[in-house]
Amino acid sequence: MINVAILGFGVVGSGVAEVLQSNAKVIEKTLSTQLAVKRILDLRDFPDSPFGHLITHDFNDILNDPTITVVAEMMGGSHPAYDFTKACLQAGKSVVTSNKEVVARFGAELLELAAQNGARYLFEASVGGGIPIIRPMVNDLASNKILSVSGILNGTTNYILTQMLEHGAAYADALAEAQQKGYAERNPAADVEGLDAARKIVILAALAFGPLLSPDSIHCEGITQITAEDAAFAADNGYAVKLIGYTELLGGKVLAMVTPRLVPISNPLAGVCDVFNGILVDANMLGECMFYGKGAGKLPTASAVVADMMDIATHLGTAVRAPKFSVAADDDYADFGAYRCRTMLAFEDKKEIYEKAERVFGELPMLSHGRAVLVSAEMSEAELDERISQMGVTPLSRIRLL
Ligand code: HSE
Repeated sequence: MINVAILGFGVVGSGVAEVLQSNAKVIEKTLSTQLAVKRILDLRDFPDSPFGHLITHDFNDILNDPTITVVAEMMGGSHPAYDFTKACLQAGKSVVTSNKEVVARFGAELLELAAQNGARYLFEASVGGGIPIIRPMVNDLASNKILSVSGILNGTTNYILTQMLEHGAAYADALAEAQQKGYAERNPAADVEGLDAARKIVILAALAFGPLLSPDSIHCEGITQITAEDAAFAADNGYAVKLIGYTELLGGKVLAMVTPRLVPISNPLAGVCDVFNGILVDANMLGECMFYGKGAGKLPTASAVVADMMDIATHLGTAVRAPKFSVAADDDYADFGAYRCRTMLAFEDKKEIYEKAERVFGELPMLSHGRAVLVSAEMSEAELDERISQMGVTPLSRIRLL
């Protein structure tokens, strides 16, 4: 029997206990041993839970218990989650987590610490909830050079966009539903302003290219500026509106960004709706490969956490290849201004706008749902900024095409 502990008995933490209990037989059959929850750390008591008797309020009960070999950090937030993870790894305990904030900020250090202490730090559930993406990138795509990763990485915003754009729901109602279903972060601003997706794309970028960029230092836009007119333009012209995390190497440096995108309906990401996430990896030998599934929610996410525990249980005492992240230096960041794409620009429906746009962009905007809209030729962000400034008019909307 292998004893495990859970730090944090919230939505996903309690899901981990539930998966371990509900699927105990299948887990035992696979491992030829049991995974037993020995302790659960939380500030609260859970007298009505079947796991209530395992609750402790003292982290030392877990840290100092030599029979606990695997710890699931399910606390969320940076502190004390990072501090507890560090202490467990230093004590030689392996740690699994769904905490993308800690992985995105401290992953390089924690992976190094795990290696130094003969432990492992696994974070399959930190990106894409229950979707296998971290392990495939570390193992199954290892013979490839990764060219780019584009993904719908946030279930809450994808749920909101789907409810709003396809079912006509109001933004506040759609967000409230996502919260009620347990998809949203404690502070949903992290979802709707793109920070959650930024944390996930920097993790994927580090897996693909090595340097772990700071999620606060990449270009990041959320969905709060998307308007009904944007959605109507997309629907009329064969696009879906999606919040996309994207990474590639640009000029030998790492570009990572989160922005709403107009995704052509022929692109498989356009069909990823509701809480589902989709991650499209372009690899030099394999070509494009898509990972799809539930990107948030209690049991999908917990199932990936438990799979990490099982991976550790399977390889106890053996050396297993782990990803190596480096802390990104200033020089690792690509120049966002050099990124090239086509962009939809919408302006007020005024005669002089049409004249200015035609002069600067060489094409006449079309009238779409009361706005003057044009889709630029492919050009760099810097060049587009320059042309917009030549027009001397701030666009009402600026949405990149994927
Ligand atoms: N709030 C996150 C989401 C949870 O909606 O995707 C999963 O990371």
